[in-house]
Amino acid sequence: MRRTIDWADGAVEIIDQVALPREYRTLRLTTVGELVDAIRRLAVRGAPALGGAGALGVALAAFACDDADAVRADAERVAAARPTAVNLSWGVSRALTRLAEGPDAVLAEALAVLDEDERLNHEASARAAELILERCSRRPLRLLTHCNAGRLATVGWGTALGVVWHLHAAGHLESVLADETRPLLQGARLTAWELAEAGVPYRVLPDSAAAAAMARGMVDCVVVGADRIAANGDVANKIGTYGLAIAAARHRLPFVVVAPSSTVDPELASGDSVVIEERAAEEITTFSGLPVTPDGTKVFNPAFDVTPAELITAVVTEKGPMVP
Ligand code: MRU
Repeated sequence: MRRTIDWADGAVEIIDQVALPREYRTLRLTTVGELVDAIRRLAVRGAPALGGAGALGVALAAFACDDADAVRADAERVAAARPTAVNLSWGVSRALTRLAEGPDAVLAEALAVLDEDERLNHEASARAAELILERCSRRPLRLLTHCNAGRLATVGWGTALGVVWHLHAAGHLESVLADETRPLLQGARLTAWELAEAGVPYRVLPDSAAAAAMARGMVDCVVVGADRIAANGDVANKIGTYGLAIAAARHRLPFVVVAPSSTVDPELASGDSVVIEERAAEEITTFSGLPVTPDGTKVFNPAFDVTPAELITAVVTEKGPMVP
């Protein structure tokens, strides 16, 4: 299966996630400016995929120019393109460690980041699937997920959807409820597309229906990805995750977070100091390009929220579950 992001003939190639599900197409990004723009527009998105984008961005810069200071300045632009997912700056830093050895070494490091991401997501999601099978007695299982934490959000395989692939292959999955994920609809557009491609039974629901689905006994476990995990186990993820965790706690449902260890930020003591990206007002005041609010309406549009560790059953990386 094609990777979400890769290096091809001297450029970064991505699956264009803005075009999905209407059109499946790839974009070739030949400059750091094009890559930064693609990250900001969410043409490439999801924390682990952003780790790959960060590392490949440094490779692009290193091949374009042999002045180390200029490459570092470009690397900073890439790292600053989006603030919340720690993987982006982590990927940039990884690739920069080889800068003194020349562009080929930087690219080799970036490609190692891509290979690792696929492998670690596969492992982390296998461990999370085991944990969910232990914690939930019902078979087959009904999972609820938020945003897109599938192969499109990673270099390959996925985190929360990686759990779905493992459980589906083992015959333990009944169906998935996929939150549509307002306002950019990563769940309705991308998660639904991946589940349909894989032949997994699913339904999309408005984010506001998730608590009602739990109350009606339609959910056995909630499983999500992460953008940054603090040292105390607090988790920053797509806006709406915190509300889901509160609802899951109310209904005594396991709430499981799956991520590669590149999403853990050991420098961050708690989620209180995560920088939360605020996005453009038009994402809220318009729908499909049409205005849906009165002229001049002000908005609050944070792209992420922080779920406190106490609401999380386990954060599972490739190293295994961390139970707060
Ligand atoms: O704004 P996005 O689409 O980049 O947000 C993505 C998420 O919040 C995902 O849940 C997270 O990155 C984990 S993806 C494996």
